Amino acid sequence: MSEEYVLQLEHIRKEYPGVVALKDVTLELKKGEILALIGENGAGKSTLIKCCSGAVIPTSGKIIVNGKEFTSMTPQLAAENGIAIIYQEFNNVKELSAAENLFLGRPIRKGVVVDKKAMEREAAKAFEQLQIKIDPKALMKNLTVGYQQMVEIAKAIQQDAKILIMDEPSAPLTSAEVESMFRVVEKLRKEGISIVYISHRLEEIYRLSDRILVLRDGEYVKTLITKDSEVQELIKLMVGRELTETYPPRENCVDNNEVVLELKNVTGNGDNNISLKIHKGEIVGLGGLVGAGRTELAQVIFGAAQKTSGQIVFKGKEINPKSPREAIDLGIALVPEDRKRHGAMLGISIKNNINMPIYERTARLSVINSKLEMETAQKYQKSMAIKTPTLNQLVKNLSGGNQQKVILARWLAADSELIIFDEPTRGIDVGAKYEIYKLMNDLVEKEGKAILMISSEMEELMGMSDRIVVLSEGVMTGELNKSEFNQETIMAYASAARMEEG
Ligand SMILES: Nc1ncnc2c1ncn2[C@@H]1O[C@H](COP(=O)(O)OP(=O)(O)OP(=O)(O)O)[C@@H](O)[C@H]1O
Ligand SMILES: [Mg+2]
Repeated sequence: MSEEYVLQLEHIRKEYPGVVALKDVTLELKKGEILALIGENGAGKSTLIKCCSGAVIPTSGKIIVNGKEFTSMTPQLAAENGIAIIYQEFNNVKELSAAENLFLGRPIRKGVVVDKKAMEREAAKAFEQLQIKIDPKALMKNLTVGYQQMVEIAKAIQQDAKILIMDEPSAPLTSAEVESMFRVVEKLRKEGISIVYISHRLEEIYRLSDRILVLRDGEYVKTLITKDSEVQELIKLMVGRELTETYPPRENCVDNNEVVLELKNVTGNGDNNISLKIHKGEIVGLGGLVGAGRTELAQVIFGAAQKTSGQIVFKGKEINPKSPREAIDLGIALVPEDRKRHGAMLGISIKNNINMPIYERTARLSVINSKLEMETAQKYQKSMAIKTPTLNQLVKNLSGGNQQKVILARWLAADSELIIFDEPTRGIDVGAKYEIYKLMNDLVEKEGKAILMISSEMEELMGMSDRIVVLSEGVMTGELNKSEFNQETIMAYASAARMEEG
């Protein structure tokens, strides 16, 4: 029986102080298949696959690679046995070239000197084999995230990996990059490489995988054959309850008389002549393709970049925030897209992270109310289902998705009147997504806030917005009221500027 499997994890258990991350988990990977690994944030997906590389040493259990048994791995053993992992955060060196990264830790040498030319030649071959266009000499820091990931995949192939494990590979990618990644992954499967694929996006799971393994709360739930399974069933297995609606219902509470933010012909930071209004109680969706200038516009409103002309009117007064600090003081928050880079304080506790904006406010009055501090943290832990044994846990010990929730909570605790969300649910599981949507609804409904939401997920954009504004190449190409929402129309607006150019 066991010849059928290239990788078997048997009865894996992993304990951390106060947390049992994995309890008796079993995973079996067949040759040439794509096995999807799914589960809520904190279910144990990353921990499980890290056992295969030696990044995590299981408390007990067995790892069997091509029939060979191990109680734990080391990075070297993993490589020798043909296992490669593309982590949620890649381990590349930004200042080195693509070729140098490909041969990181095992450079090609000519005598004692590193043979740069040979590495570049080999890298070019590896990229060509994957049918991707990357200049081997290009510095990593100048490559897009999509290409950086391709370098990681090429590296795995170069090292002759037969088992490729990918932890949320699509999360940081643009939709075009996701397509190329799929193409490469499918090509590798055809060549007999076995793949474990972690993702929160169920449509990807259906498109790519042969089988699906579901984890819940560190426990093995079930392995299903993708083509015989149904989405509702998967969701139920993952979250342990029925989740019939994707978007929580919301009463329309837009106060058309009260404009919170108005942009009048705003130009700068790559955007041109943008005019829009956001009212009290309203969620305005900002749609468009990657590179449309949506994040850039958010930066201008938030004081992280400057406009060159036009006006920003906030609560009836013209403002010119010169820094995020100034924007925050005015009552504007921006929950950034790249939350790891721009927001997480990994070395401090969940409680302190969430209360950061409150400390900043109260520190000026030099009182810190520890009861309020705990209550605030508890409130957000509950509403966002942050999975942790204690609020004193350091953020770096949380799962990727739970770290994101903490950052989100921190910005919400700032109690701003206008909140800009840049891709609010990226990397967040289906159940928690729903909670975040509910929270956004509460913000507009109960607290009368105004929200600007940037989203590349068409369904999310249509499901959550009261109105959608579409940008294309830095100009506004369309605006739709709820009754006009339609995927085709939005897509047409999103590519409108390109069409005009011919
Ligand atoms: N070093 C650590 N110390 C303490 N707890 C940890 C540590 N690493 C992981 N955990 C805990 O183990 C559990 C599983 O985390 P893991 O990162 O495997 O989840 P995940 O399924 O990958 O989630 P996500 O979808 O959010 O990435 C979580 O409760 C997490 O807090
Ligand atoms: Mg993870």
